[in-house]
Amino acid sequence: MSDSQFDVVVFGATSFVGQILCQYLFDTYGTDGALKWAAAGRSQDKLEQVKASLGDAATALPLITANANDADSLDALCAQTRVVVSTVGPYALYGEPMIKACVNSGTDYCDLTGEAQWIADMLEQYEATAKKNGARIVHCCGFDSIPSDMGVYFLQQQAQARFNAPASTVRMRVKVAKGGVSGGTVASMMNIAEEAGKDPALRKKLANPYLLCPPDHGFKSRQTSIGLASYDDDFNAWVGPFVMDAINSRVVHRSNALTGQAYTDHFTYNEAMLTGDGMGGRMKALGIGAGTGLFFAAAAIKPTRWALNKFVVPQPGSAESRLLRHPLCRPHRQ
Ligand SMILES: NC(=O)c1ccc[n+]([C@@H]2O[C@H](COP(=O)([O-])OP(=O)(O)OC[C@H]3O[C@@H](n4cnc5c(N)ncnc54)[C@H](OP(=O)(O)O)[C@@H]3O)[C@@H](O)[C@H]2O)c1
Repeated sequence: MSDSQFDVVVFGATSFVGQILCQYLFDTYGTDGALKWAAAGRSQDKLEQVKASLGDAATALPLITANANDADSLDALCAQTRVVVSTVGPYALYGEPMIKACVNSGTDYCDLTGEAQWIADMLEQYEATAKKNGARIVHCCGFDSIPSDMGVYFLQQQAQARFNAPASTVRMRVKVAKGGVSGGTVASMMNIAEEAGKDPALRKKLANPYLLCPPDHGFKSRQTSIGLASYDDDFNAWVGPFVMDAINSRVVHRSNALTGQAYTDHFTYNEAMLTGDGMGGRMKALGIGAGTGLFFAAAAIKPTRWALNKFVVPQPGSAESRLLRHPLCRPHRQ
């Protein structure tokens, strides 16, 4: 792989997060810096627009046209790079062909998916070949699940250093979150709700906290997730569900399995939103619980899914809800 033309190709450069990533790579490395990179996507016109948005100094930025529906274009892309960063989602809809191309060509890959059921499918189908071909496939490299996975890893290192043993229980609580969710993130969540709404076997799969662990993981501890509202004695506060627990906890358990049960074989973990003490905290926790439940119920049913798409959620390429327009959610470059 050392003679590849590029170190990194951003596949999905026209997406909301792809544009932020291109801006970051351009600000950090320019177009002739230590890291050789290119922007890729299915539309040459849209790629040209992304390049133009980076300014005159970006005219030398290489662009690659590739479509998730065209295996040859993905193979040609992989032949030019050491690493593919894919922001083409929902991954359950568009992600597999690029995984296949990377696995077959031994190209390293990372993405931002939070779609546990899709990752489980990819592991089942491609993990053995990826290992054989030396392709490192790393999912969940975004807000889900790096803070959770690396946070627990760091905490366990501290526990080991200070108490000579890992913590057998870790709880992650979110007190404040800034910004919003992008159109692609909402589309991915709605796709999971739609698929799960139609398929009881998938609902069972998604409920398995050890979904992403190797089959011989041996974990038996009952994991509790925060459903509606509950009082957390450790934090002296009410907590409500945190939507990313569904993927983050699976990733943390996978890390425990892959590190030879470094967090113990009876490790328990969950995530929740911290909403404060007293009646106010309780009402907020109930509100988050009801809101989350309503969103997934509405996303699972065709007419309400249509209404959510039409009137409420941000569209692909943006992070602005049609109801809640917020400056913090705008792309970095604006
Ligand atoms: N983990 C995290 O923290 C985090 C945060 C944000 C997003 N995400 C995830 O990242 C993904 C992208 O989110 P986003 O909001 O940036 O998405 P987005 O703006 O909706 O963009 C989707 C991208 O996919 C491309 N695409 C669709 N079909 C394609 C095909 N057949 N071939 C090639 N490209 C195709 C689109 O190209 P066109 O522009 O040509 O339509 C666009 O670039 C989502 O799955 C989301 O869940 C994760």
